[in-house]
Amino acid sequence: MTQDGERLVTAEADGEEQAVEAALRPKNLDEFIGQERVREQLSLVLTAALGRGATADHVLLSGPPGLGKTTLSMIIAAEMGVPIRITSGPAIQHAGDLAAILSSLSEGEVLFLDEIHRMSRPAEEMLYMAMEDFRVDIIVGKGPGATAIPLDLPPFTLVGATTRAGLLPPPLRDRFGFTGHMDFYAPAELERVLNRSARLLDVELSAEGGAEIAGRSRGTPRIANRLLRRVRDYAQVRANGKVDRDIAARALDVYEVDALGLDRLDRAVLQALTALFGGGPVGLSTLAVAVGEETETVEEVAEPFLVRSGFLARTPRGRVATAKAWAHLGLNPPQGALPDRQGAQQSVLFDNGAVTGKDATE
Ligand SMILES: Nc1ncnc2c1ncn2[C@@H]1O[C@H](COP(=O)(O)OP(=O)(O)OP(=O)(O)O)[C@@H](O)[C@H]1O
Ligand SMILES: [Mg+2]
Repeated sequence: MTQDGERLVTAEADGEEQAVEAALRPKNLDEFIGQERVREQLSLVLTAALGRGATADHVLLSGPPGLGKTTLSMIIAAEMGVPIRITSGPAIQHAGDLAAILSSLSEGEVLFLDEIHRMSRPAEEMLYMAMEDFRVDIIVGKGPGATAIPLDLPPFTLVGATTRAGLLPPPLRDRFGFTGHMDFYAPAELERVLNRSARLLDVELSAEGGAEIAGRSRGTPRIANRLLRRVRDYAQVRANGKVDRDIAARALDVYEVDALGLDRLDRAVLQALTALFGGGPVGLSTLAVAVGEETETVEEVAEPFLVRSGFLARTPRGRVATAKAWAHLGLNPPQGALPDRQGAQQSVLFDNGAVTGKDATE
């Protein structure tokens, strides 16, 4: 299971899934569930712009995968009643690619730039000017004879999305009029997402069935919708198609997604940490060897959720299992096992870059 795409609980979507997802996307702000603060702020920004008959300010959406950034960008365009052009940082290799897109925008159009932190440097600099002055300099010719021809752009709204706001250069961040920080969803919100999706997919889902799936969805609507589709399969093949708590639980047991949303890899990491290393601290590479995975897989695929949920702490001396991890595996924690609270705090300290120098949003 080294491929992230094979995991049922990954927060990322592959191409095929994106097509399925499109059908489940809420189409306007009222249909968008949860994220109350972002929704209210965004609603003010958009309503005010509409009232002035103006183009909305540039919007930055930041947050982990699968929480609804792409969905919100489409909602922004829909609410403003304008078309949307979709591209992404990695797709823009040269400043010229960006110039071509910008110069073909229509007035008021939304330009959605996904993974904006992965844009090339020259494109980024062109974007600064475009965002601020609605102007770009087109370079014509090469070498000493090259000239810059200024080109005026129609006003447009840039919606940038990033999973790593910390990686954005401050001059870029500062040019957004509004930044929405998306957070993981509460179980009750995921239940509403699931009810809505079940309706659209024509699945009969009981309240308890929805709660069971929501609890295993890691705070992420994309995962909730994916688990719902797998549970639907199970209900159709092994039962009468209706999804109640028992069917949901049995289906997700088959797919090895446990009651708190941990999958096989997550549990393997915790099992190694507790059974082989007495709860740690143990170095990342040792832990990875013990579960037969690459260090990157353990660090980037399993750990973010384990840390966030307080099962595992990253300390300067190595990885440590918290009391919650022992309890979840049905084991008695040894004397002095890290209580969850402390574990979470230590990992926050660690994640702020003091030790790794990495982005704190992970
Ligand atoms: N608030 C919500 N209400 C209902 N459904 C939602 C909500 N947020 C996300 N979804 C659903 O979750 C799926 C993933 O959302 P989306 O593609 O917008 O996530 P994302 O933040 O853009 O992820 P990525 O970082 O991978 O691009 C979509 O199918 C969408 O329907
Ligand atoms: Mg997206």
